[in-house]
Amino acid sequence: MVFGKARPNDVFTPRSREINERMYVDRPELEERLEDALRGDKYIIVHGESGNGKTWLFKRVLARKKVPFEVVNLANAVLHGSLLKSFEVKLSELGSDRPVSRTEEVDLGLRLGGTGFGGKQQTQFSFAAQSAFGALVSHLNQKAGGKRSVLVLDNFEQIVDNLDSLKAVASIIISADEESIAKHGVKLLIVGVPRDLKQLVAKVGNASTIANRLIEIPEVARMTLDEAISLMKRGFEKELGYSFSIDKEIFYKDVCWKTDRIAQQIHELCLKIALEAERASGVISLATVAKAERKWLEESFSSDLGVIENLMNSIETKVGRKNQVIYSLGRVDKEDFKHSDIEKIVREEFNVDEGINLNLPQMLASFAKAENPLIRRTPKNNAYRFVSPKLKMVIRAGLQKDSENRVIKTVEAL
Ligand SMILES: Nc1ncnc2c1ncn2[C@@H]1O[C@H](COP(=O)(O)OP(=O)(O)OP(=O)(O)O)[C@@H](O)[C@H]1O
Ligand SMILES: [Mg+2]
Repeated sequence: MVFGKARPNDVFTPRSREINERMYVDRPELEERLEDALRGDKYIIVHGESGNGKTWLFKRVLARKKVPFEVVNLANAVLHGSLLKSFEVKLSELGSDRPVSRTEEVDLGLRLGGTGFGGKQQTQFSFAAQSAFGALVSHLNQKAGGKRSVLVLDNFEQIVDNLDSLKAVASIIISADEESIAKHGVKLLIVGVPRDLKQLVAKVGNASTIANRLIEIPEVARMTLDEAISLMKRGFEKELGYSFSIDKEIFYKDVCWKTDRIAQQIHELCLKIALEAERASGVISLATVAKAERKWLEESFSSDLGVIENLMNSIETKVGRKNQVIYSLGRVDKEDFKHSDIEKIVREEFNVDEGINLNLPQMLASFAKAENPLIRRTPKNNAYRFVSPKLKMVIRAGLQKDSENRVIKTVEAL
């Protein structure tokens, strides 16, 4: 804040590690489920696509419930070569002087040296991570003055391809009931992107025992329409006091559509709009929005723009059919979709007769097989899904129909 007046950067805070309390929008259903899970005795799993608000959610709930917590960022496990090491790093951050034991040093040396890793060493390694975990929960318990506390393993997707780390987590979960761990009253909160987090951990250990010790709250998905609109109203109207020369309800819905209601993207686009509006004496107009959208697309989605551009340039069909299909993919609401869903949209949007064969299955397959694919087949039920949610946003914000129903680009880079 400068001279008591809010600035766009204070209001819309993309990717801020800390919660901006003034801008935090309540997510009652998810918060309640997490609160309930915290009361139970199982370890907790929180999952959802990147940018949907997992980190903000647990920080908010734990702070409100006054539960002391510490976060181990698993990106550090990749950086430092092992889960054990990321625990050690956390311990030293917390000011613990716990020395690394001999066995752990040997294990670590083996691990980092990349030497072959047999079953016995694997067990030792899990054991070492488990013992570092024990030291961590003991330290956390002391810091929390004996109160119940939480240890968060955030960004779990970073270690899902690492069997050693997964096994170490599995053994940590199994040890939850041991008196030496249980007495510290520290609950583990595992946070990450994959939908099947629970199965991923369970399948590397004793599956039913592990599944039994874990509880999963519902997916932290995109914001609801009400949540997203309330976030924008608070930012533009209450905090910044901006005015509108366009219909604001339509504007809010349009931002929801283009950002697919992903919290981080709403903040990023709104920050761009707010910065443009600041230059225009605090008025949100068609021109400020268009300029801001262009900057948002170019700055945040350059590689995604490239994927779409390649597909569009490789088109050699009549009436730009591929362009129509790409445009129609942007209209789809479902996470997983079939070619029949897209076919329906193409026929409606571009008035294509039933008599004309669209060859949709073939075209979608080619989008999935491209060097930089746009969509991919889902393992089950023969459906498709966007490779990343950003690609859908680029189509929504970057392609339009002109007056003759042709698909045109709204950004030069496309
Ligand atoms: N409840 C909320 N109210 C307002 N803004 C939010 C909320 N939740 C998240 N955001 C916005 O979305 C951004 C991303 O949220 P967060 O970092 O929690 O996502 P994440 O799911 O942890 O993503 P990742 O998997 O990449 O770590 C935040 O920096 C913030 O700008
Ligand atoms: Mg996060």
